[in-house]
Amino acid sequence: MAAHDDRDLPAHVRKKRLGAKPLVHETAVVRDSRFGKFVKIGARTTVIETDFGDYSYAVNDAEIVYATIGKFVSIAALAGINPGNHPMERAAQAHFTYRSWQYFEDVPDEIAVFDRRREDRVTIGHDVWIGRAAIVLPGRTIGTGAVVAAGSVVTKDVAPYQIVGGNPARPIRDRFPPEIADRLLRLGWWDWEHRDLRRAVPDFRALSVEAFLDRWEALKPPIEDDPEPALP
Ligand SMILES: CC(C)(COP(=O)(O)OP(=O)(O)OC[C@H]1O[C@@H](n2cnc3c(N)ncnc32)[C@H](O)[C@@H]1OP(=O)(O)O)[C@@H](O)C(=O)NCCC(=O)NCCS
Repeated sequence: MAAHDDRDLPAHVRKKRLGAKPLVHETAVVRDSRFGKFVKIGARTTVIETDFGDYSYAVNDAEIVYATIGKFVSIAALAGINPGNHPMERAAQAHFTYRSWQYFEDVPDEIAVFDRRREDRVTIGHDVWIGRAAIVLPGRTIGTGAVVAAGSVVTKDVAPYQIVGGNPARPIRDRFPPEIADRLLRLGWWDWEHRDLRRAVPDFRALSVEAFLDRWEALKPPIEDDPEPALP
């Protein structure tokens, strides 16, 4: 069976091509969010008031709230991006004090609690990989190219191209030496047109990062003026 030929598989696991419209699983819950192109949201994942950049995805059972997600971000299963804090400074921190209407028909929900959470957005750069069941706490920023290891709890900002892990997440190592990270940040391949990404796929696969930079810094996309093909 060819890699793309999965017609014999059951419909719910068959690969679908991505395009201008986000591919959101029918069991996902999405509220007041904005999606770029080639975005995929998996089963039972929740996305609330989030900007989701082009080519980014979250697989199943993730929860992403009040976040700005860059392009090409990979969010693994069970990740928790910006789980909200309860008002723990009060005599009671339980839902009845702010999600009150569920309990008392004459007490509306307390909007200010949600406004405070809204102000504590999580920001994630481009080409970030968030590992399985990792948690990024409110207000934190994850730099472009970073990796958050499986099961980590991110309590501090993560620098670009840094790999962090554990609870609390600590630096494991740099993904690349600083000069390579700087060159990648300058190249900014995540802003390329779709056709240039397509052209670069063999080089992304086959070249070392140094050889890739040498070649594509010289080419400087966009490399032709031909119009972008229409997206499916
Ligand atoms: C972060 C990760 C990429 C690092 O891979 P690696 O470079 O091969 O790392 P190693 O296994 O060599 O471990 C390097 C160090 O990091 C630590 N480490 C690795 N993964 C860790 C994790 N999830 N949490 C905490 N520490 C971790 C190791 O214990 C080791 O520490 P030491 O140097 O003190 O012994 C990988 O461990 C990981 O978590 N991948 C995520 C997988 C995933 O969630 N996939 C979802 C599908 S998209």
